[in-house]
Amino acid sequence: MLVDVRDLVKHYAGERSWFGLGRAQAPVRAVDGVSFTIASGRTLGLVGESGSGKTTVGRTMLRLQEPTSGQVLFQDNDVFALDRARLRALRRRMQIVFQDPYSSLNPRMTVEETLREPLEIHGLNGAVSALLDEVGLDAAFAKRYPHELSGGQRQRVGIARALSVEPQFVVCDEPVSALDVSVQAQVLNLLADLQAKRRLTYLFIAHDLAVVRHIADDVAVMYLGKIVERAPAAAIYAHPRHPYTRALLSAVPEPNPHATKRRIVLAGDIPSPAHPPSGCPFHPRCPHPKKSERCRTEPPPLRPVTPGHLAACHYAEERCDRGRGGAARAGANAHEPRDPAGRGWAAICVEAESDAGRRSTHVRSHALAYAARHRAGPGRHGDLPAAQSHSCSAIAAARDVDVALARRHAAPRRGPQAAGR
Ligand SMILES: Nc1ncnc2c1ncn2[C@@H]1O[C@H](COP(=O)(O)OP(=O)(O)O)[C@@H](O)[C@H]1O
Ligand code: SF4
Ligand SMILES: [Mg+2]
Repeated sequence: MLVDVRDLVKHYAGERSWFGLGRAQAPVRAVDGVSFTIASGRTLGLVGESGSGKTTVGRTMLRLQEPTSGQVLFQDNDVFALDRARLRALRRRMQIVFQDPYSSLNPRMTVEETLREPLEIHGLNGAVSALLDEVGLDAAFAKRYPHELSGGQRQRVGIARALSVEPQFVVCDEPVSALDVSVQAQVLNLLADLQAKRRLTYLFIAHDLAVVRHIADDVAVMYLGKIVERAPAAAIYAHPRHPYTRALLSAVPEPNPHATKRRIVLAGDIPSPAHPPSGCPFHPRCPHPKKSERCRTEPPPLRPVTPGHLAACHYAEERCDRGRGGAARAGANAHEPRDPAGRGWAAICVEAESDAGRRSTHVRSHALAYAARHRAGPGRHGDLPAAQSHSCSAIAAARDVDVALARRHAAPRRGPQAAGR
């Protein structure tokens, strides 16, 4: 294993009330006993709602912040036991791409300076133009400042910066979440291509299962600081075992606009990790029909349900197709022209190619909402026309989808407010 995370815990000290003079509040249990491994060249998708602890896992693993307890082994090096010099040497091997390309670049540094900095820190002699070329940017971008770049271009620079020191392992912390939906597919494709080319290992963090679907080999689902389900990606999508995973999955749009599925809408927000519920932390929101007193009192361990498929639910073996209790179900069809983030109906197609025996997944994530957004008028979404035609032809080729019908579903009922976005 390249990366081995063992019982990782990160608690943030509770804040003090009364301008820092009062009693300290309960600690925030951001990460509460997380374990997983990632083999070399593979991708683990780490998924969960905002606030579930994903970023804290990624940052603590790289020791960008100190852990409360637990162990992270990178090529058998105990990351938390390293002294400064050895940690710095290891940092070269472990990099991060941040969620927000707007705040992660220094506005006063040109692209070239941004890319030179890590090279100088690590005493390397890489060529900036080659890096730019690798992430699909023209050499002329070297002289530009971040404010002169689009969101997608900035994220490409962020990726180039991470790659400049030739890492083996990259934490991709929601690298496409802040991007316009029309650019997300391009950046996902780039990350997939770079992984195949450079044999990278990824921890790929996302808040929805649609994004990691075609890039992850394995998926871990987090809820309130804990992993509640972990399995090979195919198993998670085909046979989710935890009610929380099922709810997340129900929000993933189907590539086939003819298909219908019901969306499970969870009641309420994720509770505070400073005061996690007793027993199963998911119990206040769980729609499982078998939910019982046991759920309120006894924490379910993360245990194998089938070989290699772990779930933390007392009733993981039982179907839970019918909601009850606090959860409401919306009769939404998958081809409803909206996803839960309100970004529009997105369809995802895949072209899988075999690359020297290793699976190289070419992600073709296409938003049919491009079509809808395109109607917002030229100029609003600069990348749109090319992406749109590409997406439509690729959808037709890859998934035999009736593009005309798909467009019709993507476009209607969005109304004038949507057009104004
Ligand atoms: N520096 C911090 N101090 C206190 N609490 C924090 C800090 N960073 C994150 N948290 C809290 O830890 C929890 C997990 O946060 P985070 O790891 O950012 O989740 P995610 O990436 O899944 O959205 C959240 O409740 C968040 O408010
Ligand atoms: S243990 Fe109970 S509350 Fe928790 S996920 Fe399973 S059924 Fe729901
Ligand atoms: Mg985060």
